[in-house]
Amino acid sequence: MTTQAPTLAVTGSTGALGGLVARGLAAQGVEQRLLVRSAGRAPDLAGAHVVEFPGYGDRAAAVAALAGVRTLLMVSGAESAERLEQHRTFVDAAAEAGVGHVVYTSFQGAAPDCTFTLGRDHHATEAHLRASGLTTTFLRDSFYLDFLPDMAGEDGVIRGPAGDGRVAAVARADVARSAVEVLLDPAAHAGATYDLTGPEALTMTEVAETITNATGRTVTFHDETLEEAYASRRRWEAPQWQYDAWVSTYVAMARGEVAAVSGDVARLTGREPTSLAGLLAERAAG
Ligand SMILES: NC(=O)c1ccc[n+]([C@@H]2O[C@H](COP(=O)([O-])OP(=O)(O)OC[C@H]3O[C@@H](n4cnc5c(N)ncnc54)[C@H](OP(=O)(O)O)[C@@H]3O)[C@@H](O)[C@H]2O)c1
Repeated sequence: MTTQAPTLAVTGSTGALGGLVARGLAAQGVEQRLLVRSAGRAPDLAGAHVVEFPGYGDRAAAVAALAGVRTLLMVSGAESAERLEQHRTFVDAAAEAGVGHVVYTSFQGAAPDCTFTLGRDHHATEAHLRASGLTTTFLRDSFYLDFLPDMAGEDGVIRGPAGDGRVAAVARADVARSAVEVLLDPAAHAGATYDLTGPEALTMTEVAETITNATGRTVTFHDETLEEAYASRRRWEAPQWQYDAWVSTYVAMARGEVAAVSGDVARLTGREPTSLAGLLAERAAG
């Protein structure tokens, strides 16, 4: 790694969110270092220097890949039993490499005891970042709006123990636009925590109605009991933490833990975030 390589680094650019952020930065003429696990899948962008590394769990390789980086966007890694340990390793590598500021994609309401089990990993990662002495900015995303239409099964039924609970889901594109604004002027966001949500909080019944109205496909919501929720997911072979994550997504809604609507996307980007109806209309328009 030469010292001429960009001092802004972005992870996750082979994926959806990091890819949108990298494209957004490139569109603004920003030079960036893309840390990827597979260089062949990195986006081809002006001003982007691709650096391959094995992933968050390889400390020595991460230290080398981050040499000279001042600001880092760390996109949370793929869910696994090892994710939290990998995150801690990568944070330690960032501190060792002399990175000054880490912008981390966390989760709304991240807490040691939050109902959405993966939100606990995000809390622990935030805590590790704070303890590392790095300057931090936390982007606490809600559930992705982009996923809501995929929650319905082949029979058009969304199943889960969400009750009448609401979710203020946010479009990935709005998370990416917010991240770009932060990365364009990181010092202005030092120490900040932003809740990135959509413009409204919908019940699963309202989500089903919105999808039905927008697509013509009849989608309904079935409020499962906890037992039904685990039983209906057992048809997919998965480790226990994965079942817990799937089911607790809905229980977090039922308990009102993901219902708060924040104005942070609009404050950061200067435009209102996309609604579910808006996202579906954009999709229909191609
Ligand atoms: N808020 C929500 O509703 C929600 C939903 C799903 C996921 N998430 C979280 O948000 C993150 C970004 O979402 P997304 O939709 O962009 O996911 P995505 O399309 O799966 O992209 C994830 C990116 O992170 C990289 N990555 C994963 N694990 C890594 C590791 N251990 N070390 C280094 N890089 C790693 C992937 O690299 P490869 O291409 O090499 O795999 C990919 O570039 C996800 O990784 C997940 O933590 C949030």
